[in-house]
Amino acid sequence: VKETASISSQIVLQPAPSNASELYLDLLKRTLSRAIVAKGYERLSIMPGRRWLRLIARVIQSFLSLFDLELVQRIRTTAQDYLESGDSAKNRAEDAETMLGTRQLDQMQACIEDVLDRSVPGDLLEAGVWRGGMTILMQAVLKTRNATDRKVWVVDSFSGLPDPDTDIDSGWWRAGDMAVPLSQVKDNFRRYNALDENVVFLEGFFKDTLPDAPIEKLAVLRLDADLYESTKEALTHLYPKLSPGGYAIFDDYQNLTECRRAIDEYRREHSISDTISKIDSRSVYWIKSG
Ligand SMILES: C[S@@+](CC[C@H](N)C(=O)[O-])C[C@H]1O[C@@H](n2cnc3c(N)ncnc32)[C@H](O)[C@@H]1O
Repeated sequence: VKETASISSQIVLQPAPSNASELYLDLLKRTLSRAIVAKGYERLSIMPGRRWLRLIARVIQSFLSLFDLELVQRIRTTAQDYLESGDSAKNRAEDAETMLGTRQLDQMQACIEDVLDRSVPGDLLEAGVWRGGMTILMQAVLKTRNATDRKVWVVDSFSGLPDPDTDIDSGWWRAGDMAVPLSQVKDNFRRYNALDENVVFLEGFFKDTLPDAPIEKLAVLRLDADLYESTKEALTHLYPKLSPGGYAIFDDYQNLTECRRAIDEYRREHSISDTISKIDSRSVYWIKSG
């Protein structure tokens, strides 16, 4: 696949920023998502679905690694692919700190700026952080506004997914998938010079960490945990702490029926009728009324 020199320049996130803070956030979002280095393809490690083919691929891979070689496929990408969040290699550069597209990153910046402008009280929290990219952006937006009185809660097992519910969750996830150790997430924060005492890490499964977490109020709550039970647990313990006027943001509402089911059930059980708005092809948000 030929490198496409012009692809990076086709990626326009927002109108050209006019001040240093905006320019910094614009560059940060392009870097976290790797839209900045878009080259017309992304690399995907070859890992076939069938067990015996996967075994062969592993053997070949182990042999190649002796010579510092790797078996990868090149997946063609366009500028459009970096706007969307996704699980496919097209929407997810292999070394990016987030699997989210730039539409979601733009929307997060806008939500935080909005709660600061309207003085909605509370901290910012993401439950299900993977490599931490979205929470790095949260911290960066607070910094640009000198909002030092709010925390960023970084909530994950840091050992991947718990056991999926085989009756409810889609079949492709396994316990331990998407594991990124806490040390690696902290290191990602350090790379962006974003680690300070206002960033709080909650390590462990939601059912163990959230019930007694010392979180008082939230202004922005983002859930990205991929499973029914995880989404339900996070909603149960965190939504009551979201301030009126704050943002509830959900990845996977449109593309994973198990996440949609957990959210719809919670809305029904708590008579929530706030309007749901789309962000990109999978995520949605609403503003908590009251
Ligand atoms: C899709 S990834 C999150 C992607 C991330 N928000 C980003 O910016 O790329 C899902 C994450 O949810 C975490 N997770 C899912 N269920 C969990 C649970 N019950 N307790 C703790 N972490 C959980 C996994 O460890 C994984 O890191």
